[in-house]
Amino acid sequence: MSIAVYPGSFDPVTLGHLNIIKRAVNCFDHVVVCVMVNSEKDAGLFTPEERVELIRRTVSHIDGVEVEYSSGLLSDYCEKKGANVVVKGLRAISDYEKEVQMALINRHINPNVDTLFLPSGEKYTYLSSSVVKEMAAYGTNLEGFVPDCIIEDIEEKMKQRREE
Ligand code: PNS
Repeated sequence: MSIAVYPGSFDPVTLGHLNIIKRAVNCFDHVVVCVMVNSEKDAGLFTPEERVELIRRTVSHIDGVEVEYSSGLLSDYCEKKGANVVVKGLRAISDYEKEVQMALINRHINPNVDTLFLPSGEKYTYLSSSVVKEMAAYGTNLEGFVPDCIIEDIEEKMKQRREE
């Protein structure tokens, strides 16, 4: 069985991420979406557990997808899951340098694991979780940017943040 891991911060999951998940499912028997820690990013809007829940809801209608959280190393996680491919979406040339660096580090740590880059869906090349959070902070309509089933959660979380 071919297994791929799609790692990321997913704070929160966007339609760009969902597009990558659906295309990865076409390439592999099983895709594990893994919420992981990016040490360059702050604590974020949602907790890791909340992010997992939002992704699970988003992919509930797609077969062959599993969603988990791991606070460890990506290459160790791949080993644990029996996956030898990491899937990452590439939006613009600005993503390229960082993503290739990560891919090479991961392959150095675990030579059995290689990274497969999927070009982002053309509608989503400008889309990121950061852009979504920025829009949500200003009360902009999130339809067309994140899955409909999580819009209320983002709005509610932003409201809580404002009241804190
Ligand atoms: O969505 P992001 O923030 O670009 O995802 C980056 C992420 C979380 C996949 C990356 O930071 C990661 O792999 N974190 C786990 C720790 C790890 O394995 N780091 C790379 C080798 S030091």
